[in-house]
Amino acid sequence: MRIGVLTGGGDCPGLNAVIRAVVSKSKIHYEWEVFGIKNGWAGFVNKNIEELTLESVSGILPKGGTILGTSRTNPFKEEGAAEIIVANAKEMGIAATVAIGGEDTLGVANGLCKLGMPCVGVPKTIDNDLGGTDYTFGFDTAVNIATEAIDRLHTTAESHHRVMVVEVMGRHAGWIAVHAGIAGGADVILIPEQPFQVTEVCALVKKRHARGKSFSIVVVAEGAKFQHEGDIDGSIITQDVEVDDFGHVRLGGIGNILGKEIERQTGFETRVSVLGYVQRGGTPTAFDRVLATRFGIKACELVEEGEFGKMVALRGNKIIAVDMEEALEIKRVDMDLYDLASIFFG
Ligand code: F6P
Repeated sequence: MRIGVLTGGGDCPGLNAVIRAVVSKSKIHYEWEVFGIKNGWAGFVNKNIEELTLESVSGILPKGGTILGTSRTNPFKEEGAAEIIVANAKEMGIAATVAIGGEDTLGVANGLCKLGMPCVGVPKTIDNDLGGTDYTFGFDTAVNIATEAIDRLHTTAESHHRVMVVEVMGRHAGWIAVHAGIAGGADVILIPEQPFQVTEVCALVKKRHARGKSFSIVVVAEGAKFQHEGDIDGSIITQDVEVDDFGHVRLGGIGNILGKEIERQTGFETRVSVLGYVQRGGTPTAFDRVLATRFGIKACELVEEGEFGKMVALRGNKIIAVDMEEALEIKRVDMDLYDLASIFFG
């Protein structure tokens, strides 16, 4: 049998660990041929594929990014593109595809399954916001990078008696902000799930300074929402008006706006650090390497069992199969965890 493997959406530490596991299990255990589809779904449209061997995946386990390349191509946006993918997969003899990606990539895999193309999913995102699984790989690495950054910013904040605003990733959910914020001892954490008023943030900072502290660390997720009076939902801050193939705007910039307001309203000197893509790059942590490897092996087992339309998932300490649709439900931050974090605010 010949199977395909692809990576779609934003890159993420651990993608190569999954690819390696899929190739190793397929070749050693099942004696399947494995083809890598280049640059996400785009590679299926233009038949850009390469055979993967045990040699070609040797040494990639600790490498960040993806050896297959990635893109945010959505074949369901272009008339007839999804049908071309189904036909090309058949023509290239690819009997099943392992799609490694987030809500967008897995949404496409699910749609293609419905058109008769056998796919299984592997959940990936540093944001950890996919339903059906306790954790996605990449998240642990991002949290560790953000925590180290907060630790480093602490020393400058303390020495200069400043407020430090740290903007971390997190489009729909504030998992990175909450985990890194708790681990790094943040004094305020702002997340998309809980719209905030700047006056409330300033009150917390002032309260802290009033009890003798001369610095504060404010962690804000890029998708957090500013709330004005009477505006319950709040508004996000975007970098431009353009959207990608899946209708997502480019977020970013909330940290700078917030930092200026904190300085204006409190009078405390404030600086801003935007962590951005640093959180998504580089070598995966041991946790992410193990999770990615377990996901890759289980994905092959699902292919062997003909369990198409399913996604591998971590529940407790077990790797299980769930319907791919479950991943498409956004997993928001557990508010009990946020409440725990807020004990340390102000
Ligand atoms: O989904 C992961 C993520 O890093 C989000 O946190 C962020 O909003 C988005 O991807 C950025 O995407 P891009 O790589 O297209 O700028």
